[in-house]
Amino acid sequence: MPQHEQPPTNASPRRAVVTGSAGFIGSHLAHALVQAGATVIGVDRRDPSTDPMAAANLAALRGRPGYHHVTADLLHCAIDPLLIDADAVFHLAGIPGVRPSWGPQFGDYLASNVLATHRVLEASTRIGVPRLVVASSSSVYGPTDGDASRETDRPNPASPYAVTKLAEEQLCLAYAERPGGPSVVALRYFTVYGPRQRADMFTHRALYAALTGQPLRLYGDGHQRRDFTYIDDVVTATIAAGVNPNAHGPINVGGGSNASLLDVVNIANSLTGREIQLHQDHVRNGDVLVTRADPSRAGEVLDWQPRVDLHGGLRAHMQALAAPMPDYSRAA
Ligand code: NAD
Ligand code: UGA
Repeated sequence: MPQHEQPPTNASPRRAVVTGSAGFIGSHLAHALVQAGATVIGVDRRDPSTDPMAAANLAALRGRPGYHHVTADLLHCAIDPLLIDADAVFHLAGIPGVRPSWGPQFGDYLASNVLATHRVLEASTRIGVPRLVVASSSSVYGPTDGDASRETDRPNPASPYAVTKLAEEQLCLAYAERPGGPSVVALRYFTVYGPRQRADMFTHRALYAALTGQPLRLYGDGHQRRDFTYIDDVVTATIAAGVNPNAHGPINVGGGSNASLLDVVNIANSLTGREIQLHQDHVRNGDVLVTRADPSRAGEVLDWQPRVDLHGGLRAHMQALAAPMPDYSRAA
């Protein structure tokens, strides 16, 4: 179900800050908040006037009176003025992706996922922000025996990326216990897909391969399973976490569509009528075989459940990928 068909969000913060707003999930969230009547300050170090991907992600927000974009790096910028009067901070800025985190980029992961988060937390405490929602990750669970992961399970991160995400959420939860700290909800997102998904992610690559006829590299045999979670469902859960006074601590956001990579390939084939050419490659370090969310806490605390099934979500994702790219060179 594409974004415009999502049931209206019936509660939204009045004023919100979205970090990482030029990214995949952050841009969808900022758009939905503005649609719901909120005033949003979006912060991202990617500049939409020079970065075509940021411009594309922010295109629907350009010129919207409720949205104010600030190009700034949270590692260095003055954060306090951005947070004044915010009812909620949605902290999504970070360096995502499991595979590159083993390389020399690890310093960037640490800096953006942990040190920048520390600066956001210090500023939130000084300004008295009441609620902070942080984008955590299913990767904090690490390898499982295939059973659904619950928030009470012991985390066991299997990659440097996952270690930084666990550090990030735990840091936020520690600040929540500190006098004057914001109340914190750490949403453990499970493999999010949909329009504008990052180009390094599997779903994007599979749909792209199906549309163009280019080969798709499979890391392993394709039997890895993920709880693929559609972007609109993720946005709905995130806004609910921003306004629900009873929400606190880690909450899984996933559980709608558990499927293997080969299932995704088969759906992509059926949507295009073209057979993707698969090139098998070695399993990447830190890649877990199965992620599976137990979504019951999200149901109880946020009254949330995923609505979009994998076939419908992939169809909407593919339609967005196939649409001609607008010309952003004249972006204001
Ligand atoms: P993304 O890369 O599209 O967006 C992240 C944004 O954060 C980027 O635009 C980037 O420029 C910005 N950013 C990074 N460091 C920054 C800094 N120091 N200052 C200012 N801006 C900075 O990624 P995404 O897929 O939208 O993920 C968003 C968040 O959700 C990340 O924290 C990620 O770890 C988490 N997450 C994503 C998924 C998923 O499936 N996409 C799953 C679990 C968790
Ligand atoms: C995704 C995001 O990239 C992380 O940022 C996020 O934290 C994580 O979800 C999460 O749920 O917490 P991942 O599930 O590894 O991580 O998603 P993909 O990068 O799309 O990979 C999914 C699977 O496809 C992996 O097994 C990967 O090895 C495989 N893959 C990926 C390929 O076989 N080929 C590719 O070209 C890309």
